[in-house]
Amino acid sequence: VAVLRLLGSLGAGADVVSGGELYRARAAGIPPERIVYSGVGKSPDEIVRALRAGILMFNVESSEELVAINETAAAMGARAPVSLRINPDVDPKTHKYIATGLRESKFGIAIALARESYAKAAALSNLDVVGLDCHIGSQLTELSPFQDALRRLEGLIADLRADGHAIRYLDIGGGLGISYADEKPPHPTEYAKAVLDVVAPLGITLVMEPGRVIAGNSGVMVTRLLYRKHQGGKRFLIVDAGMNDLIRPSLYDSYHEIKPVRENTGEAAPCDVVGPVCESGDFFAKDRAIKDPREGDLLAVLDAGAYSFSMASNYNFRPRAAEVLLEAGRPRLIRRRETFEDLTNCEIG
Ligand SMILES: Cc1ncc(COP(=O)(O)O)c(C=O)c1O
Repeated sequence: VAVLRLLGSLGAGADVVSGGELYRARAAGIPPERIVYSGVGKSPDEIVRALRAGILMFNVESSEELVAINETAAAMGARAPVSLRINPDVDPKTHKYIATGLRESKFGIAIALARESYAKAAALSNLDVVGLDCHIGSQLTELSPFQDALRRLEGLIADLRADGHAIRYLDIGGGLGISYADEKPPHPTEYAKAVLDVVAPLGITLVMEPGRVIAGNSGVMVTRLLYRKHQGGKRFLIVDAGMNDLIRPSLYDSYHEIKPVRENTGEAAPCDVVGPVCESGDFFAKDRAIKDPREGDLLAVLDAGAYSFSMASNYNFRPRAAEVLLEAGRPRLIRRRETFEDLTNCEIG
């Protein structure tokens, strides 16, 4: 919430994908007119909460959801502002788990069905069609998929306007990648230029949902080396963080650079950096040359600011770590370490 508050104070809004994220964005003081709500499975309760909050718009992902939002709004005597999330069928050339704009993915409404879906939305009495939305995936390291998607949307917006829809907002999602290893994603300035080339002539309010590019490189997970173990011809560094704290290597096979917090003069020998969790999938690096740290030393797992703590769990009944924000070099605790009692408090029996 401290990070959201910081971003909110800089003028950011929020793209939420659950009732919980809506709650948290509001708790951080983000005004409702700067909140959009995406996601393929908004529950009735979540729709009610978003209507009550008065968000800028729902990014609707199916015609079934159009009907559900319309019914809920009607029951509340409210009107729901909607954009349709269009799936442009573009390959974002990223990990398959975070590619969202392919024809076969669960997200959005197929571009071929866009006009009929907009007609349906316009015919529903408690919906106000206000815009169009698209998010094709995350950790994109090339501009061309963004450009391909935008070109498809440009033509569609012209058609929708000709059909009589007031398309005032174009939400282009997020997705701009960062460098974890040797990727060379486009600089935000290049991305902005590519976006504006298409969007500026449209006379539309641009909404964007960058996530990883803001937070990814700004976070570090610090973990302590518990044991050095040699087994089966391999060297293991066993640390006190686990896949429950940072699941990206286990889930996406992703790379995070790992450095000793204090420089040491040890040899850089290949090793696996692993956690204490009871699965062989619990690792942060494989065969990585890391300057030989000693037991008790701290290691920094870099670029852990996005999809890291936010994906943390209590697997193995492990309390989640504390979070510290560095502001102008000064540390501030923004989330205390969880206790066992925090974990048992919700349990009954
Ligand atoms: C709808 C939507 N918008 C924006 C984002 C943010 O993506 P990124 O962090 O890649 O910018 C996501 C990520 O999952 C998303 O699902």
